[in-house]
Amino acid sequence: MTTTTIILLLNGPNLNLLGTREPEIYGTDTLAECVGDAEEAARSAGFEFEHLQSNHEGELIDAIHAARDRVAAIVMNPGAFTHTSYAIADALAAFDGVKVELHLSNPSAREAWRRNSVIAPVVTGTIAGFGRAGYRLAVEATTGRIG
Ligand code: DQA
Repeated sequence: MTTTTIILLLNGPNLNLLGTREPEIYGTDTLAECVGDAEEAARSAGFEFEHLQSNHEGELIDAIHAARDRVAAIVMNPGAFTHTSYAIADALAAFDGVKVELHLSNPSAREAWRRNSVIAPVVTGTIAGFGRAGYRLAVEATTGRIG
């Protein structure tokens, strides 16, 4: 039984632009609204909640390292690092808690270069294609697996 009660949400590059970034793909909801939904889902299930958005790979890796033995679950939308970052995949592999890969869009239904995730092999599961609702769904998916 884990003693930590924190769920950490990480958002990668360009997600700070949500709301105005390619709204036909990502919708018009802002990152703050998506994060608010995730926080509400975590707190209503009795968990603490932390969030970081960064455009920098190293900063995201540092946050994953700092989560080890401290955080129960990580929900991460890695943005385009999904398709390129073996370093983030390695960092997640070294985190022992529940891990959810999250995407607003469904990358498998988009350009060929988005169809491969280097993150997918190291996570508990993936939620993709449900837009803003995915943030709440991803947190709910973790709370059922913590413990
Ligand atoms: C994304 C999908 C990625 O392919 C893309 O690079 C993003 C956002 C999503 O949430 O749908 O930045 O992770």
